[in-house]
Amino acid sequence: MKQHLWLALAVAGAACSQEPAPAPPASPTPEAAPGPAAAATGAAALRERAKALLGALPDEAASPTNPVTDAKIALGRILYFDPRFSKNQDLSCNSCHDLATNGADAGPTSVGHRGQRGERNAPTVYNAAFHVAQFWDGRAADVEEQAKGPELNPVEMAMPGADAVVVVLRSIPGYLPLFQAAFPGESDPISYDNMARAIGAFERRLTTPSRFDAFVEGEDAALSAQEQEGLALFLDTGCTSCHNGVSVGGQLFQKLGLVKPYPTKDPGRAKLTGEAADQGVFKVPSLRNAARTGPYFHDGSLATLDEVVPIMARHQLGKELEPDQVTAIVAFLGSLSGTPDPGYIAKPELPASGPDTPKPDPS
Ligand code: HEC
Ligand code: HEC
Repeated sequence: MKQHLWLALAVAGAACSQEPAPAPPASPTPEAAPGPAAAATGAAALRERAKALLGALPDEAASPTNPVTDAKIALGRILYFDPRFSKNQDLSCNSCHDLATNGADAGPTSVGHRGQRGERNAPTVYNAAFHVAQFWDGRAADVEEQAKGPELNPVEMAMPGADAVVVVLRSIPGYLPLFQAAFPGESDPISYDNMARAIGAFERRLTTPSRFDAFVEGEDAALSAQEQEGLALFLDTGCTSCHNGVSVGGQLFQKLGLVKPYPTKDPGRAKLTGEAADQGVFKVPSLRNAARTGPYFHDGSLATLDEVVPIMARHQLGKELEPDQVTAIVAFLGSLSGTPDPGYIAKPELPASGPDTPKPDPS
């Protein structure tokens, strides 16, 4: 158990960066030296803590109200890529959440109908179904409810109403058999709600298992020594008080600038609730794939994780990190990037338009 103690001391020293770290003993006693056995114990203890607070990513974010089936996924995938239910038929979900480039777009904000820009950064759709709610302010309960939003948002897909979307879906002959297969037994399966259910089912398996998951499942070598150090710091510094669960975030709402005020124009959840206490409160974002989905924050105002991590420590926790601690945490965050199954995200063939399919409307 001496090794445990050694690790605990080393980690505590590293975490409290305001205080000078205790000087290492000049000649460590043999039991206290971090030999290979100590390293293995360290990895095992770290794994248990990571399992308890974070955990390995499941294959699917299951839903009791929208069970995932192969037929729903097949339909949802096509809908996800189909631009014909945007006003000018030039935007699909994939335009702003490109599955080939980490499920997000590269800009601080996204370009919608007629080149308009919204005010918030597009989060990745990968692993989003694991979150407690959707959007930066959590205004949609789940991915199914979320999937009814972008089509009607005037700065996104800009359709005039749900009915207009259903008209498009009905005008494309190939959709009827797909909706019938996905929603068997329903007399009129093509509906706005079923469109959203199919997209939601597709999203529920948009997962990106990573090296971090291999580590949690027992493979010590999946994370380098520096990444393990970063993981320990992430736990010890208190990042997991907000970024927790299998999606390393997405589980609660918190104020940006909880301990030390952080300037932001966006009212966050106050826009929904009207409560002064919700000013600047956002959903804690998932950090899965964060290394690949910059720029950061709800407004895309920060370019790199090296900038974000010290701001988080300072403004959310009241702590100052040493540069090498920032480097280790950023290295750990890199281990949360995973690659989806290429077959699952391949662009499907879209069913052909029919004679009554509306024409693009650039106005
Ligand atoms: C014009 C760009 C654009 C299009 C098109 C678009 N989105 Fe988004 N999406 C965004 C932006 C921006 C946000 C964040 C908005 C906010 O939080 O207020 C977002 C948020 C989301 C989220 C929430 C993720 C999270 O972590 O909270 C999901 C899921 C999502 N979109 C899926 C979709 C789906 C499905 C479609 C197609 C039906 C779609 N989006 C179409 C830009 C777009
Ligand atoms: C008190 C809660 C809280 C704590 C503690 C916290 N965060 Fe955050 N974190 C947030 C919130 C809220 C945001 C979203 C801020 C925004 O966009 O307005 C965020 C955003 C981030 C982002 C940007 C993600 C993105 O996609 O834009 C990173 C990276 C991050 N945090 C890392 C960390 C690290 C590392 C720590 C520990 C040093 C930490 N956080 C501690 C609440 C917290």
